[in-house]
Amino acid sequence: MNDKPETQPIRTNFQNLPFWNPTKIYDHEVNKNIHRMDLNECPYPPSPNVIKAIQNVAHTLNRYPDGTCPELTPLVAERLDVPEETITWGGGSTQLLTSIAEISVAPGQNLVTPQLVWKRFEGIYKIVDANVTSVPNKSNGAIDIEAMTDAIGNDTRLLICVTPNNPTGMMLTEQEIRHISENTPENVLLFMDEAYHEFAIHAGGPDALEILKDRKGPWAVTRTFSKAYALAGVRLGYAICSSVEIVNAIRMVASTFSLNGIAEAAAVAAWNEPEYTQFILDQNAKERSRVVNGLQDMGYNPMESVTNFVSCDIKHPATDIVKAMRARSVRISTVGGNEFVNHIRLSMGTPEDTDAFLDNLKKVLDTF
Ligand SMILES: Cc1ncc(COP(=O)(O)O)c(C=O)c1O
Repeated sequence: MNDKPETQPIRTNFQNLPFWNPTKIYDHEVNKNIHRMDLNECPYPPSPNVIKAIQNVAHTLNRYPDGTCPELTPLVAERLDVPEETITWGGGSTQLLTSIAEISVAPGQNLVTPQLVWKRFEGIYKIVDANVTSVPNKSNGAIDIEAMTDAIGNDTRLLICVTPNNPTGMMLTEQEIRHISENTPENVLLFMDEAYHEFAIHAGGPDALEILKDRKGPWAVTRTFSKAYALAGVRLGYAICSSVEIVNAIRMVASTFSLNGIAEAAAVAAWNEPEYTQFILDQNAKERSRVVNGLQDMGYNPMESVTNFVSCDIKHPATDIVKAMRARSVRISTVGGNEFVNHIRLSMGTPEDTDAFLDNLKKVLDTF
């Protein structure tokens, strides 16, 4: 019904949208011990030191916080060896992804992105109203780096890359990141989502930020406190950018007061406690091996994840499996994309979560 646009206060891309709440607790789950393995969360709570730091700033919540994170920024800048003024903060890295797209691609201009990528990006394509070139992933699910750079056209302003990628859990090699950095022209913003960076390093993978530091053209890398720092609930992510101009553009779009008043204190405490992050990463790797081995023992071939989630072709429509598992209090998710309708994705949990997943999956598959 776009023949009378003046009568439509909502932009075409936003009309009649469905809403799906990923965090919804179903009635049968209330007050039950559910195995929450669908949102790539950390199964462990923040450390006692982090909880104490949050309590210590609770009395300041009548004030707006300083969204430049003046205490945390120098700590992060020093460890990452980047200038402080090239870092900016967002309410989760999700907010920054949108801002990065908004500052680079005007409606109708082109962005290049992998076809199989975190579902949230579909919302971002709508927001910026871009002409999207979705580059098919390789048959094993990996991002096809050469096809991505080959897809860049005169009108391309943004190239989106995610390493390790969600939902595959697969990371790019150092050579692949170099290829993309060197073959993305200087009039294209190269964006790397590294939400699972710490997991990639734990698995011996490359550091995309270090490689992008050599790039001549513009770039931005996002990371988060949600995963390896057990702080999904405080909603704090950051972008490291190639210039102050990009930082200030993101700040303008992401709004003045987008952080909450406990995020910085929580993140400083978590950043200063690398042993706890190491514990989270070690535990995650153990449970990932158990999940992968368990799926292999059942005859399946999971994707080669280095992250806190694993995707696997389960040879049955994933929506049915996800539904049946949820009825048994094990929350897992689908992967999406036509070629991956039989893939489930599950996040790593505690050892008990792994047991519950493997046990219930066998029972559910017996009924199919
Ligand atoms: C690839 C990717 N990027 C970003 C995010 C969002 O993280 P945050 O909690 O920092 O918004 C996620 C969350 O699952 C993700 O999978």
